Amino acid sequence: MPSDTLTIVDNRTGREYSLPIVDGAIRATDLAQISAAEGDGGLLSYDPAFLNTSACRSAITYIDGDVGILRYRGYPIEQVAEQATFLETAYLLLEGELPTAAQLEAWEEDVRKHTYVHTNVTKFLEGFRYDAHPMGTLLGAVGALSTFYPDAKDIADPENRKLQRVRLIAKIPTIAAFAFRHSRGLPYVFPRNDLSYIGNFVNMTFEIGGRHEPNPVLQRALEILLILHADHEQNCSTSAVRSVGSSHVDPFSAVSAGVAALFGPLHGGANEQVLRMINEIGNVKNVPKFIESVKSGEGGRLMGFGHRVYKSYDPRAKIVKKLADEVFKVVGVDKDLEIALELERIALSDDYFTSRKLYPNVDFYTGLIYRSMAFPTDFFTVLFAIGRMPG
Ligand code: ACO
Repeated sequence: MPSDTLTIVDNRTGREYSLPIVDGAIRATDLAQISAAEGDGGLLSYDPAFLNTSACRSAITYIDGDVGILRYRGYPIEQVAEQATFLETAYLLLEGELPTAAQLEAWEEDVRKHTYVHTNVTKFLEGFRYDAHPMGTLLGAVGALSTFYPDAKDIADPENRKLQRVRLIAKIPTIAAFAFRHSRGLPYVFPRNDLSYIGNFVNMTFEIGGRHEPNPVLQRALEILLILHADHEQNCSTSAVRSVGSSHVDPFSAVSAGVAALFGPLHGGANEQVLRMINEIGNVKNVPKFIESVKSGEGGRLMGFGHRVYKSYDPRAKIVKKLADEVFKVVGVDKDLEIALELERIALSDDYFTSRKLYPNVDFYTGLIYRSMAFPTDFFTVLFAIGRMPG
């Protein structure tokens, strides 16, 4: 009997089966031969949350959740966040290796060329109510891009796929900034291709009357936050894109499903919920009572805590905490930092959280940083979506 097999004895029938093990996995479809009665369809594996099911083999991102390791194409996240730009990171994820200087220049130029959106997109955005959630606007607008680029349907052509990839990465900051301006009743600011990827996004978002004074510390902090969000294996939104894309629909339609998945409060929407939770707590004095309400199940979950994969700590959360210090040095300490620190302190010393391996995740502190950069709460998840686009 080959050693890389799994022997199963079905105690209902006494029959024995041998299933091949490849890459540390058995094929769920191999279970179908295990049948107890004619016509029962064979044995199924039940795993609604994909807790122990792989749907692909990926060489892009590596995570070891037990020890808190995250690598993009073999590079530790700490190194990428410290040394790379967002577009270099995107190139690394897409192409498998960091770009040479010439490759980077060509890639940046490619992205720059595609930052504009058809002016009809602005008309389309006008249809949204003034108080539309910007994630709803973003998800609608990304899906709508499929109607502007019907050529994107030709998914069998690798060059065509590359073009749509560039379009998505280039246009999402433009659409995100437009969603912001729509919610403020401000005129749209079109891309300025003399600026960097991040600089251009910030300018399109905040420029008033042709003026915006960028702060390099805040821009780099935003860039690092986007890098930290750029990819994360088979998470909820990536799985949504893969599942929808498996129908061979165009990439804009598939990615709009990913944006929808990211919108949810248990996934990308958690950064917004953390701030709403902190606002509700209101004062550091109320933290112990709030923690008790979480433990009793009455207060909902401690948002920004816990992760499907990280069961020791989220390595991104460590970087985010350090970034928060740098940002607060520039703009002053956020008024609610004290509440967040106290929530973290109590939770990390409380058996309810430690026994369930609940630690701060990437979203616990990002909201406070985004707020310090003058982004409104309902825009936080849009920032996540810009970061996640290469992934
Ligand atoms: N606060 C309080 N209790 C929690 C939390 C939390 N944040 N997270 C999990 N638990 C508890 C559950 O109630 C459950 O307790 P029980 O065993 O007594 O029933 C136990 O911990 C396990 O919970 P699961 O939901 O099975 O854990 P899972 O790993 O499936 O969930 C998730 C991961 C969804 C992220 C969860 O921890 C959560 O809801 N966190 C808050 C939302 C959040 O911050 N999401 C962002 C994640 S990062 C990202 O998506 C970018």
